[in-house]
Amino acid sequence: EREQKAKTLYEVMEAACVFFERMLRMPEGKEGLDYFHRRGLDDKTIAEFRLGFAPDNRGALKAALKREDIDEKLMIEAGLLIEPEDSGRQSYDRFRGRVMFPILDRRGRVVAFGGRVMGDAKPKYLNSPDTPLFHKGRLLYGLPQAREAARHDAPIIVTEGYMDVIALHRAGFRGAVAPLGTAVTEEQIGELWKMTNEPILCLDGDAAGKRAAVRAAERALPILRPGKSLLFSILPEGEDPDSLMGAPGGFENFKKIIEQAVPLAELVWRMDVGAHKIDTPERRAALEADINQRISVIADEAVRSQYKSMFNDRIWKLFKGDRGGNTAGR
Ligand code: UTP
Ligand code: MN
Ligand code: MN
Ligand code: MN
Ligand code: MN
Repeated sequence: EREQKAKTLYEVMEAACVFFERMLRMPEGKEGLDYFHRRGLDDKTIAEFRLGFAPDNRGALKAALKREDIDEKLMIEAGLLIEPEDSGRQSYDRFRGRVMFPILDRRGRVVAFGGRVMGDAKPKYLNSPDTPLFHKGRLLYGLPQAREAARHDAPIIVTEGYMDVIALHRAGFRGAVAPLGTAVTEEQIGELWKMTNEPILCLDGDAAGKRAAVRAAERALPILRPGKSLLFSILPEGEDPDSLMGAPGGFENFKKIIEQAVPLAELVWRMDVGAHKIDTPERRAALEADINQRISVIADEAVRSQYKSMFNDRIWKLFKGDRGGNTAGR
């Protein structure tokens, strides 16, 4: 029997990534390659993001990794195989019949995958489960490239999805990142603030994107620090950064949208004022109470007191019949 060094989980993930990349170039991967081409990705982008293809087969990856002496237990631990509850049954490939997006950690190592169906099946995207290498609320897609871009003062732009990050990179916005199928978490905000003081959230122009923006604002408020905040861009109804970039004039439009991003404080103001009528003393008092409540969650005293004076000032103007500097919320 041959001596073999136990492989690490990182090596298992790397081997899987190489397998998916190779499959994209095989005859059975052609539908995956066609899919990427149809969505406007060229071979250079495909190589740069190490995009791949998982065949529609329960044992393709498992067999390939077995040939590399990788233990089935490790494949399960890496989240690549699903182990049936019923222990009598064989484990099988998690990702089948999908185009594959490897997710890299801050140092560029493959730690997870996202896989997209090429048609309308559900779920549209399937992501790796949490593993010892991957905790989805901590990482951002595109992080290693964005860290590099931030060193050259590129704006850090937070989008919703894999395709948005890739489309923005192609257009030269190399500071694009995305959370991985969750709302932006506190940990991700902390990661963003390591790269820049004011990352720009640029979520889809639909109801879900707007809800996600509000949730991100609520997450950020308690942890604001002097200098550290978020900016919010509002995309046109029904658009996301990828679709915008694909349309005529997309680059210029997107640039303008980014430049017009509004500060967190402005978004919070619109969230509260937008929900209130202020035509009676009682209603005004209710608005005042809501705003005070909102501000009270800010832990940093200096930031909290700045919010207080800004909003007091705005409320005062509002009550005098001037709706304040910016009225877009209503
Ligand atoms: P979207 O529905 O906006 O998809 O979900 P998208 O990124 O625009 O995808 P395309 O353009 O149709 O390919 C945004 C993100 O939410 C996560 C993915 O990370 C996706 O990129 N998501 C979405 C999932 O994890 N699972 C899903 O089923 C759908
Ligand atoms: Mn852990
Ligand atoms: Mn969306
Ligand atoms: Mn989208
Ligand atoms: Mn999209």
